[in-house]
Amino acid sequence: MNSQVSNRDQSLYILMISVHGLIRSHDMELGRDADTGGQTTYVVELAKALAKHHAVGKVDLLTRLIDDPSLSSDYAQPEESFGEGARIIRLSCGPKKYIRKEMLWPHLDQMVDKSLHFLRQQGRLPDLIHSHYADAGYVGKQLSTLLGIPLIHTGHSLGRPKQSRLLASGRKESAIERQFNFGRRIAVEEEVIQHASMVVTSTRQEIDEQYGMYQSHSAKNCSVIPPGTDTSRFSPLGRKKINPQLQARIDRFLHQPEKPIILSISRPVLRKNLKGLIAAYGEDTQLQEKANLVIVAGVREDIRDLEESQQAVMNDILLDIDRYDLWGKVAIPKHITQEDLPELYRLAAHRHGLFVNPAMTEPFGLTLIEAAASGLPFVAPDDGGPRDILANCHNGLLANTLESTAIAAAMSQGLSDRKQWRTWAKNGIINVKHHYSWDAHVEKYMKEVGQLLRRDRKRMRRQHAMALNAGKSPMPLVKMMLISDIDNTLIGDKKGLAELIPWLRNNAGMIGFGVATGRSLESAVSMLKKHRVPLPDIFITSVGSEINYGLELTPDLGWPNHIRHLWRRDDLAKAMINIPGLVLQAQENQREFKLSYIATPDQMPPVEDIYHHLHELKLHAQLIYSHNEFLDILPIRASKGHAIRYLAYKWGLPLKSFLVAGDSGNDSEMLVGDTLAVVVGNHSSELEFLRGHEQVYFAQHHYAAGILEGLDHYGFGGFKAPSQEE
Ligand code: GLC
Ligand code: MG
Repeated sequence: MNSQVSNRDQSLYILMISVHGLIRSHDMELGRDADTGGQTTYVVELAKALAKHHAVGKVDLLTRLIDDPSLSSDYAQPEESFGEGARIIRLSCGPKKYIRKEMLWPHLDQMVDKSLHFLRQQGRLPDLIHSHYADAGYVGKQLSTLLGIPLIHTGHSLGRPKQSRLLASGRKESAIERQFNFGRRIAVEEEVIQHASMVVTSTRQEIDEQYGMYQSHSAKNCSVIPPGTDTSRFSPLGRKKINPQLQARIDRFLHQPEKPIILSISRPVLRKNLKGLIAAYGEDTQLQEKANLVIVAGVREDIRDLEESQQAVMNDILLDIDRYDLWGKVAIPKHITQEDLPELYRLAAHRHGLFVNPAMTEPFGLTLIEAAASGLPFVAPDDGGPRDILANCHNGLLANTLESTAIAAAMSQGLSDRKQWRTWAKNGIINVKHHYSWDAHVEKYMKEVGQLLRRDRKRMRRQHAMALNAGKSPMPLVKMMLISDIDNTLIGDKKGLAELIPWLRNNAGMIGFGVATGRSLESAVSMLKKHRVPLPDIFITSVGSEINYGLELTPDLGWPNHIRHLWRRDDLAKAMINIPGLVLQAQENQREFKLSYIATPDQMPPVEDIYHHLHELKLHAQLIYSHNEFLDILPIRASKGHAIRYLAYKWGLPLKSFLVAGDSGNDSEMLVGDTLAVVVGNHSSELEFLRGHEQVYFAQHHYAAGILEGLDHYGFGGFKAPSQEE
């Protein structure tokens, strides 16, 4: 029987990733900073709602662990359960302190590694990965490629539209690049959109206008699934009374508190256009007669402690209130938390007011849905999110929010007809439940996911015959690895190979299989195919300078970044030109991180001399001499041995669970140290020096039969070799 990595448990395991902001399951500090807002609510509520679905067994939401004395210690807890089967998992990556999302890019590779280690502890691989925003998309795409698990992505907001908006507003390209890191973000978004099996958007317009700006976009991968709201929190007042404390916190600003309330809730960021709202209200005295204005612009203690961009927005608001002399008509309370919001919407509805979203653009509009659920009609920008919401809910008006007079006109109209107002209020309450509950969201989500997983299973079945492990990668869960050189180790003895391969097949999922070779990837694959060796889980090729995985030959992206250190290929090639006894090997053996020569030993200077020559030129490289015939020049961090150490770290396996087998000089590095090493009987003389080394076993048998003898010697994976018995 094949012990494939499979889930006995039929229910789905969904891994969500949302890296930035402050995420916890209760008392979210929404509006505290630009990274903690709509998205953080969305991911927590989605995780909760998904976990409730009967077909879902487990949802883990991965985010960054933040251990910052200026913040609640909640964000430093590695695990937080919320509701059945849903958890927030916090993984530390980068600095301990809280940093804004634009600064997270250099630390995301670490998040990938930490996620792999986390999955190893779970003992089960997810069925789906769902990433949120470009930073998590970067992590999700890597995990999805490394593990063979389909990726779902939600952009929340995209770099290209934001960049062009800022450029259109007259800001300098170099300045916004410095602030927002668009180059990196957009490149990642392109890759993620290309790779994702499904992209979730909130509106139709988001697909056409925003994803449409990306080269890799294709509308057929996109699904419009409007966000849900936790409607249980947002509801009309009904027979209840308004909480007097909350009411007092608003009314202390107002001369005539009983008037209708125009309510606006958003983070203090430019896009939300609070400035336009104040101008609309400030320039219209009739409107000021009709209603008070209540602005909730995040939570603040001291405006001077806010981040710079938010400070600017807040200062502007206060200066404008003063300029229009709106004192007594505008409330701008400091400490309205997430918990207060439902009551605040109810207060505004109770006073027959309006919710106003004056944003310049609104892809999403979560607050509109909350307002609708509370029985509070709205005025919102004539843009993607609000257009869809209004078409579903019939509970307010759209306005051209780029003109303050248009905002003012819509607000006046919205407040003028009480009968219309009542119809709107009722419509909102009913229609939000129908279109924007999380249950409705999850229903649609699961339907699309079902299709996606069926397609994916078909693809896996097609590929099944060709590999030890089809589909999902076994790497995060294997307990041991066998890594063998190809030429003169794995290959050379048919009988031994015919015994080794079925053993590997039987242990697939428990024992991973890799090759480590001097050959290029292409030539390694063709050699293995020729000898009917199933494609391994890991390819270490070109003497350890390249790492790829599985059937798809997925490259390891972290490895080139790691070995690039001090590598100056062109200068090295130049420095080698006049050395006697060396000629360059064929072009296919010359790689980005490998220069290879054919050596004539009696004409060539000693390897040490070549090394000194390079050293004098301040060039750094490793020289690897093998079979008295080949000389390879590699980056100082690249070798078969270093590659194995990197893999051990990346996949969370101790070195002593690696059994490595080889026969020649370019294998020596991976044979020493903590790994269990086997030198096959037919080895070349360069390896004699390893005799007597700890954990280096010299087999009598040659080629694959030598590997089997080594497995037996170490009792590796419980191996017992019948053919070794006399
Ligand atoms: C393989 C490679 C060659 C390399 C040699 C020794 O034969 O094709 O480029 O020099 O191994 O590592
Ligand atoms: Mg060899």
